[in-house]
Amino acid sequence: MAQQLLKKPAAVRTAEVAAPALAPMTEPAPELSVILPAFNERANIPMMVERLSRALDGIDWEVIVVDDNSPDGTSALTRDIGSRDRRVRCIRRVGRRGLAGACIEGMLASNAPYVAVMDADGQHDESLLTAMVLKLRGCETDLVVASRYTDGTNGTGFTAARAKASQWSTALARRLLKVELTDPMSGFFMLRREVIDELAPKLSTQGFKILLDIAATGRDTLRIAELPFVFGARLHGESKLDARVALDFGQLLLAKLTRDAISYRFVLFCLVGLTGIGAHMAALAALHGMGVPGFGVQQTIATMVAIAWNYVFNNAYTYRDQRLTGWAFVRGLIVFELVCSVGAISNVGVASLIYAGGPSWWIAGLGGAVMGAVWNYTVSAAVVWKAP
Ligand code: GDD
Ligand code: MN
Repeated sequence: MAQQLLKKPAAVRTAEVAAPALAPMTEPAPELSVILPAFNERANIPMMVERLSRALDGIDWEVIVVDDNSPDGTSALTRDIGSRDRRVRCIRRVGRRGLAGACIEGMLASNAPYVAVMDADGQHDESLLTAMVLKLRGCETDLVVASRYTDGTNGTGFTAARAKASQWSTALARRLLKVELTDPMSGFFMLRREVIDELAPKLSTQGFKILLDIAATGRDTLRIAELPFVFGARLHGESKLDARVALDFGQLLLAKLTRDAISYRFVLFCLVGLTGIGAHMAALAALHGMGVPGFGVQQTIATMVAIAWNYVFNNAYTYRDQRLTGWAFVRGLIVFELVCSVGAISNVGVASLIYAGGPSWWIAGLGGAVMGAVWNYTVSAAVVWKAP
């Protein structure tokens, strides 16, 4: 079969390839895809579809639920609705978690000129969608943000503490990232699909701050409009936003401020390394107390203990999204010990080299330590956790 295909003259093959472009528009893509990232939102999906149906009367639309394999069966229910209503689609992601990544994948799966993102829990006022579409049709806007602050309203979806945290991070984002948005943390926005096609490779898939990321990354080119709305209460279930969101926010700020030069992972890695010094000293004291013979032996064992300590905490925090378990954990530990041993040797080597050059003992020491940390981080990212 393959042989036969290969034997066809080139002209025929070209014609076959070109054919789809000439096909008539049988059923063009809808004008709007509404992306609903969803984790354990089964109870809310039917109501969401109903609300969208009502709100989007007169607009050709579809909804794409992006579910991260929720245990409550969000996907199954969405597919069930979709089997009777072709406007309802579902992306089920297995082995991945994260709001930003889910939004990006949903938007990239769309073929519509406009894509919207909103909570799947009814907190975002769907009656705003039509006005958002009109803004984009007007050709002067690339991104429309439904903002909770343009008129100072907070709505019922906020607790006092959440409102404070949100205002504080908004101020920080505006000052540091020069993003001129009244509500850069909003989870409700609409944009031209080309925008996301272009920006997607530069966006972070971690965390909640997808809009801030888009606005900061496309800062110099995007034409942005804002529409006010009142943040409502959830229909069912509870918020997935937790303390980790603050970490995610810090990560995004750092990445954008340093133009991705310093990754948040590297900072975490160094922090873990600092705690490793404590572990090292504790192990050394214990070995000394137990009377293990020879300082060299004590120091070697303490170093191995500290490396193991660092490994455990990096695996739990720095690489929590790709945590190693079972045999992979054991293998990772061995490889990490090897990588960091080389790091320690290069640390001493570099420090001695700088010291010989003669500036001062502390510059030499610091140089060696930085060199060791960079080596450990870069190599372990490639061979232990295999980060992309
Ligand atoms: N696929 C997927 N994967 N969806 C997720 C995940 C995830 O890991 N985490 C949360 N979601 C979905 C939820 O199911 C919900 O539909 C939506 O993303 C927002 O999550 P909520 O748990 O409802 O967040 P919230 O209402 O507390 O937070 C609101 O404010 C944030 C900023 O202050 C939302 O509007 C967020 O979008 C917004 O970033
Ligand atoms: Mn919500």
